[in-house]
Amino acid sequence: MISEKFMWGAAMAANQCEGAYLEEGKGLSIVDLLPDAAHGRWDMLYHPEKYLDKELEFYPSHEAIDFYHRFREDLELLAGMGIQAFRTSISWPRIFPNGDDSEPNEKGLEFYDRLFAECRRLNMEPVVTLCHFDTPYALVKKYGGWKDRRAVDAYCRYCETIFRRYRGIVRYWITFNEINMITHIPYLGGGLLIEGEDNPKQAIYQAAHHQLVASARAVQMGHEIDPENRIGCMLAAGSFYPYSCRPEDVLESLEKNHENYLFIDVQARGAYPAYAERLFEENGVVLKMEEGDSSLLSRNTADYIAFSYYSSRLAGTGEEARKNVVDGNAVTTLRNPYLDITAWGRQIDPVGLRITMNELYDRYQKPLFLVENGLGCEDIPDESGFVQDDYRIDYARRHILQMQEAIKDGVKCLGYLAWGTIDLISAGGGEMKKRYGFIYVDRDNNGKGTMKRRPKKSYEWYKRVIASDGTKLD
Ligand code: BG6
Repeated sequence: MISEKFMWGAAMAANQCEGAYLEEGKGLSIVDLLPDAAHGRWDMLYHPEKYLDKELEFYPSHEAIDFYHRFREDLELLAGMGIQAFRTSISWPRIFPNGDDSEPNEKGLEFYDRLFAECRRLNMEPVVTLCHFDTPYALVKKYGGWKDRRAVDAYCRYCETIFRRYRGIVRYWITFNEINMITHIPYLGGGLLIEGEDNPKQAIYQAAHHQLVASARAVQMGHEIDPENRIGCMLAAGSFYPYSCRPEDVLESLEKNHENYLFIDVQARGAYPAYAERLFEENGVVLKMEEGDSSLLSRNTADYIAFSYYSSRLAGTGEEARKNVVDGNAVTTLRNPYLDITAWGRQIDPVGLRITMNELYDRYQKPLFLVENGLGCEDIPDESGFVQDDYRIDYARRHILQMQEAIKDGVKCLGYLAWGTIDLISAGGGEMKKRYGFIYVDRDNNGKGTMKRRPKKSYEWYKRVIASDGTKLD
């Protein structure tokens, strides 16, 4: 039973902040081959085959925000806000450069030794994602990524190395970042090149099955190595509303929700849900399962449900509904006329967070953990370099209020972690221009800038929120 105090924190991911992409023995990650926004980042997410062998001008993850060299300064800044939990990921190719090397890269481990020691010194609970869009590229070359079951063994060896090394140092783990994203952006989610596949869905669901098996094995191993470990699964959340009360629209929203829940249904409840059978059949998917998979999945469910929330979603079937598709995000959704929308196509829906949390808790009855939430937008510093980001404060305040309403509704929630608390490169567009941070980083879309960090107005605001344990949100 998890009964800890609610944690206020910050969340980042190795590939979006560390940089040092080949330093001290690190191997290439799938993200290291993704170009920036201006050179086809989105296109590449969907058609990686077109780009993989090209030498492009600029790859944002190669330097990112140079967290690898500046992590001490960055963690001090976070500590200055009173951050209680710090989520980051370990870069798998930093530890196993080819994904399945016989020995781990000691230099890579030493980096995380220093990082977690610094977290502990500053009284921050590390929350660690084992794979955040960061499959080693060598496994794509060798196996076609997660399509091949051998990826499971490679991942498990990596996890075992990490669980043993950080026993007693890290307690909160997430096996895969937003596991449902594999159906939306298969290259990022599973290192999949699906262009030549006869049935792309077959490849996607088979790869996802391998991740589910890997996740269950990680849960089992993590608990054996240290019973104090708390190991979560993670969903890119945001409930689908029906476009109208037409039964067909309601049904469509139910089906879209099913598609997103499918994997965490397995991770949280221990078996494929009943609706999976029809979904697979109608899409010509035949899962290859090995003997022992079902019992492994059922015996090793996640301890908590981590989730990201940026927006609710909208689904409908009619012609009018289809005219209202919103572009710019990995998950296709329709335009909800009742919501404001950001320049990057995210519809702002704080009440949707309360709804989503209630739905998740009703469904799983396991503690939730909000490990990503925030507003991605352009910030323009004034003459003195200060960013007056009242819009970000407003977004966070309204979401925190609705999270607190959900908690009053009876939902158990372990904490709130603001996404990209220090500006970092965005996962979808690979841009710096779309910023989430309470701390500004002087770097632009072309990789220019001093990398200097500067607290924004939201920095002091979040500090007050944490100091008051969420009671002072003004
Ligand atoms: C989540 C990811 O999907 O959303 C993060 O876990 C990502 O890696 C975040 O950065 C925000 O999306 P984006 O594309 O604006 O960076």
